[in-house]
Amino acid sequence: MDEHQQTASNTQQSRRRQFTLFASNFLKHPKMLGSIIPSSPFLVRRMLSHVDWERTRVLVEYGPGIGTFTKEILRQMHPDAVLLVLETNKDFVDYINGAFSDPRMQVVHGSAADIQQVLNERELGAVDYVVAGIPFSTLPDVARENILDATRQVISPDGTFLLYQFSPNILPSLHKTFSQVTREFEPMNFLPAHFYRCRP
Ligand SMILES: C[S@@+](CC[C@H](N)C(=O)[O-])C[C@H]1O[C@@H](n2cnc3c(N)ncnc32)[C@H](O)[C@@H]1O
Repeated sequence: MDEHQQTASNTQQSRRRQFTLFASNFLKHPKMLGSIIPSSPFLVRRMLSHVDWERTRVLVEYGPGIGTFTKEILRQMHPDAVLLVLETNKDFVDYINGAFSDPRMQVVHGSAADIQQVLNERELGAVDYVVAGIPFSTLPDVARENILDATRQVISPDGTFLLYQFSPNILPSLHKTFSQVTREFEPMNFLPAHFYRCRP
C-alpha cells in the first residue's frame, strides 16, 4: 500500500469509528440524539454561513456529538475567540476532548440548561452565537422552555441563536422566547432539517 492509499484507508477507518460511536449512542439514547447519523456538510455549511467570524469572540455549542459543527467552527473562528461546548453524553465529551485539541475550546460535560452558570464560572461575557441541534421535541415542556429562556438571556443584544430541528414543533416556543425568528429548510441532510435564526 503506498502513502496515498494508507492515508485514504486511515481516513475511512476514522469515519467508520465516528459513525459507530454516534450510531451506538443513538441506540442507547435515541431521545437525546434524535438522529442516527451526524449532520451533513450541507447543513453545517448553511447554518455557519450566518456567523460573522470577524467580530465573534464568544461562541457556544450545545450537543456537539462527534464534533461535526465543532470542527468547522474551530476552523473558521477568530484566533482570539472562545468556543464553549456543552454536551450531556460522556462518550461524546471524551471523544471531543481526544479529537480536537485547541486552546480556544472549553468542553463541559453538562446540559445546555446550565449555560448561565457555566459562563459565570468561566468569566465569559455575553455570547455572540449559540449553535445547537439538541432534540427539543423529545424534551419535557419545562426543560425546553428553561433552555430557551437561559439561551436568550446569555446572548448579546446583537447575537444570534442558530438552531436546527427535524420537526417544526419548536416554532411556537421560539416565537414566545425570541423577538425575531427566521426560518430556513435544508433538504440535504439524513433527516431534512428545519433551521432557525433567533434574535433575543
Ligand atoms: C442530533 S445530535 C447532534 C450532534 C451534532 N451536533 C450534529 O449535528 O451532528 C444531538 C446532541 O445533543 C446532545 N444533547 C441532548 N440534550 C442535550 C442538552 N440538554 N445539553 C447538551 N447537549 C445535549 C446529545 O447528546 C447529542 O450529542
